[in-house]
Amino acid sequence: MMDRLPGFRDFYPEPLPHPDLWSADARQYIFNRWRAMAHRYGFREYDGPPLEPLELYTLKSGDEIVGQLYNFTDKGDRQVALRPEMTPTLARMVAAHERNYKKPIKWFAIPQLFRYERQQKGRLREHFQLNADIFGESDPAADAELIALLIDVLRSFGLTAEDFVIRLSSRNAWQDFFNQRCPDPAKAYEFYQIIDKLEREEPARSREKLAALGFSYDEITTFIQAGEPTAELAGIIQNLACRGLRDYVKVDYQVIRGLAYYTGVVFEAFDKRGEFRAIAGGGRYDNLVKLISGGKVHLPALGFGFGDVVLLELLKSRGLLPAFDAGLDAFCLIEDETLRGDSLKFVQDLRTGGLAVDYSFTPAKPDKQFKRAQESKALHTVRLERNPAGELVARTRNLRTREEQVLPPADAIQWLSLRPAKA
Ligand code: HAM
Repeated sequence: MMDRLPGFRDFYPEPLPHPDLWSADARQYIFNRWRAMAHRYGFREYDGPPLEPLELYTLKSGDEIVGQLYNFTDKGDRQVALRPEMTPTLARMVAAHERNYKKPIKWFAIPQLFRYERQQKGRLREHFQLNADIFGESDPAADAELIALLIDVLRSFGLTAEDFVIRLSSRNAWQDFFNQRCPDPAKAYEFYQIIDKLEREEPARSREKLAALGFSYDEITTFIQAGEPTAELAGIIQNLACRGLRDYVKVDYQVIRGLAYYTGVVFEAFDKRGEFRAIAGGGRYDNLVKLISGGKVHLPALGFGFGDVVLLELLKSRGLLPAFDAGLDAFCLIEDETLRGDSLKFVQDLRTGGLAVDYSFTPAKPDKQFKRAQESKALHTVRLERNPAGELVARTRNLRTREEQVLPPADAIQWLSLRPAKA
């Protein structure tokens, strides 16, 4: 049998035939929560193309992402790439039409992204990412708002301050540190890359790389350990404290972010037990719109990306994923085939009334139909019958409480509507 490519996923409806498969239901559950919280914070949804000119990424994403591109020459001889991240697309879209939107612009998207990464726990070659970004506001109040959104998204899955922390840092702080010690600004990005890898790399290797740039490993670790918040970070923490969200953040200069375009405050969300890769990451990128618009538009910007892969692993490990089923309000039993036509009309009316309903396509034994109703976890069965006066009535039965009702079909629809499977 043909298999899928490594690092790509098939999503199946639950119950999953095998625990290693991916759940389409869990994915939808995540998307719904992402969307709902972004909406509560006043973010509007946008989208862009999954295939972009290669140049969009070689310009400013940084070597790490460019090395992971799925790129090729298309039939029109264009150099193209599957999007490895959303930020350059968004910067392009905003640069093109920002005049038509009041500032600050608050937008979100849920793109599927492609990176040819070395496969490891929490990292695949395709993932979905909630992206939330703000344009046209340089005040750190916007950074605080974005971080509050990230915290609330995580909390909406039942995760608490015991489970995760947002590590706050600042490229400005690192830049000052760098400028005080190194006269060559061209080396700054190389320096940031070493800091970004500090946690994952052998200390001896980092020590060597830092020495080559003229830095001592010890002065770096001293700076990180002091964790002195900049005035900007202190303001953000104060803002979050007003919202009762102080416990979810800490200053941690080990975070610097791998992507080249970040300019100011940066942050990453991690699980507190340190079992997983970063859950989410983002920060300010005040120069990207200018760069992508060839200097025509200058808009401060900030945002984050929050992937579905680590989130799913984390929710699974904490037992925070609900059980999923079709969520049927009713299964219509057709035990008397002379009533199939009336039953089809009834099913149609139930569905028109907004109810989720299923039934057997072809004649089947009553016990088989009932079993199917139970297996699909329908909340009710409904069955059309004729009463002694010869009128059509609907018998509804709640499969959990076993409560039965016999009502005229129109009343049964209303009765069921007041008792939905999914509240
Ligand atoms: P990023 O740190 O590259 O940032 O990715 C953000 C999140 O996406 C990660 O924390 C992780 O949850 C998820 N992620 C990244 N790569 C993979 C992968 N190979 N497999 C599974 N999950 C992955 C960005 O992409 C920035 N564009 C975010 C941003 C938006 N910054 C400003 N606005």
